[in-house]
Amino acid sequence: MAKPVASQQSAPHVPVLLAEVLAALAPLDGATIVDGTFGAGGYSRALLEAGASVIGIDRDPNVRAFADVLKAEFPSRFRFVPGAFAELDELAAGPVDGVVLDIGVSSMQLDEPGRGFSFLREGPLDMRMGGEGDTAADLVNSLEEAELANLLFAYGEERKSRRIAHSIVAARAAQPIATTAELARLIEGAIGRKPGDMHPATRSFQALRIAVNDEFGQLVEGLFAAERLLTEGGRLAVVSFHSLEDRIVKRFFDPEKGAPTQSRHLPQAVVEASRWTSVPRAVKPSAIETGRNPRSRSAILRSGQRSAAPARSVNYAGLGVPRFRGAA
Ligand SMILES: C[S@@+](CC[C@H](N)C(=O)[O-])C[C@H]1O[C@@H](n2cnc3c(N)ncnc32)[C@H](O)[C@@H]1O
Repeated sequence: MAKPVASQQSAPHVPVLLAEVLAALAPLDGATIVDGTFGAGGYSRALLEAGASVIGIDRDPNVRAFADVLKAEFPSRFRFVPGAFAELDELAAGPVDGVVLDIGVSSMQLDEPGRGFSFLREGPLDMRMGGEGDTAADLVNSLEEAELANLLFAYGEERKSRRIAHSIVAARAAQPIATTAELARLIEGAIGRKPGDMHPATRSFQALRIAVNDEFGQLVEGLFAAERLLTEGGRLAVVSFHSLEDRIVKRFFDPEKGAPTQSRHLPQAVVEASRWTSVPRAVKPSAIETGRNPRSRSAILRSGQRSAAPARSVNYAGLGVPRFRGAA
């Protein structure tokens, strides 16, 4: 993997909705906050400068150089723990006052051709944030046609998924698909490209990245881990980048939204105490922010404050988590 540039001044990732995230976390002097998606440390730095202690977590080993810079500047208030945020309660070990998750890929990951995240940059079809497990090439070259189509549809909302899957299966019969550019060309050939529309490979690349990194599973597990970890009154802020993730976050904070309507012929359902209070409306970036940082365009922030009610067991039901295995 490529080495990152270790200067915060030249950090290539511009933090999204930074002021809004800080307002949602309201970090008091002396508070401890978990930054579960450390990246280039943009949120962590702002929280440290506001007087909080920060535990930075990231599963990408390439962020270490950014963490080292913060460690040198704030030796007693910052520590970095490598790992996946699904286990953030075990990694943080101890009650905390805030958790922030900024889901998705960083600019460093997207811009580095060797990571294979971008259809605009020729590179190996990898897409693993943590460098472990199956690559995107493994999935593309091994899934059955129907399963591949279901994956592109469920995780990428790609309506032309069957046509794309068919082309992939035909192409890989001759030779495995190895690079981002090969796959992008194949998709463009399968479904065409209209001038002015987004690149035809956008949705398929999103779907593959989500599957390779189990992003929905990580999100669900991470939300429940934060629920277990936060003290009463503690705050959770989550920035997501597409509607499939946002639906999960929204329903997690307000389970009533995902619940089926109760039949009037059944006994009254028991109303459980809410684990989250002060859940404001979703916050989106201003026109000024999207003008300055086009990558912030689809960002959406949701937050809430932990009540005294005991944490729930992890439960995927009602969160609207897309599935592709065993899907119709
Ligand atoms: C959008 S960037 C975060 C940028 C950061 N807020 C900043 O200001 O620099 C997302 C980061 O989260 C990491 N990440 C994504 N999913 C993760 C997971 N499940 N566990 C730990 N880190 C994860 C990625 O490796 C990436 O570095």
